[in-house]
Amino acid sequence: MKYTVVLPAAGSGKRMKADRNKLLLELSGKPIFIYTLEVFEQDLDCEGIWLAVKGDERELIEQYVERYGIKKVKGYATGGAERQDSVRAGLEMAGQPEIVLVHDAARPFISPEVIRELAERAHESGAAIAGVPVKDTIKKAREGVITETVDREGLWMIQTPQAFRYELLMEAAQRAKDDGFLGTDEAMLVERMGHPVKIVESTYENVKMTTPDDLIYGKAILASRLQ
Ligand code: CTP
Ligand code: MG
Repeated sequence: MKYTVVLPAAGSGKRMKADRNKLLLELSGKPIFIYTLEVFEQDLDCEGIWLAVKGDERELIEQYVERYGIKKVKGYATGGAERQDSVRAGLEMAGQPEIVLVHDAARPFISPEVIRELAERAHESGAAIAGVPVKDTIKKAREGVITETVDREGLWMIQTPQAFRYELLMEAAQRAKDDGFLGTDEAMLVERMGHPVKIVESTYENVKMTTPDDLIYGKAILASRLQ
């Protein structure tokens, strides 16, 4: 199934505690977001990439895109204060593809098989998101004392990509804007419309580069791929 992808890349990466946007940090000599772009560049079903970036980083990001020969970038949207604003800016520029994927630029290790599955499921039923089963024991606590051990059955850690019929996501985004609703992911906007969202089992490697320890894991993933 053909699709267009919107990549929010307009964050600042505070939790990474680096001196610049974490997406510009290098893993084995290449910026994190370039790995992400390369996955979509190489996927024959990907018809175009829209990047949401901060205004003052656009030039630098464009230079990298050119240097690494990424041809599918169709344009740049100016990101906003919240991730949801950046995604909306990207969606508004993306034309009207049948299927759109939203994927964090900070997740460079997404599997092409998962992308394919997501696009197909979204085509069939409107909305499908990537996730992995929770591995750890999950408890709730109040004031430092456990109040409940949560049954792990049916619990998922949610990732991106999140794939949608474009019209459905745009309607959900518009309603969220009208209602002043801020979601933590795109699926929440669709869920609150009562539309079912499918889950596609992804890989644990599809980790978001968020804190400094994620870079260690990222380097290890790259090293394992060279073997
Ligand atoms: N993002 C964005 N616009 C924002 C905030 C985030 O486009 N206003 C993007 C980030 O660049 C990243 C993705 O959304 O690719 C996931 O967000 P996150 O991992 O939280 O990145 P940051 O917001 O940059 O990091 P932090 O929350 O630690 O500051
Ligand atoms: Mg953030």
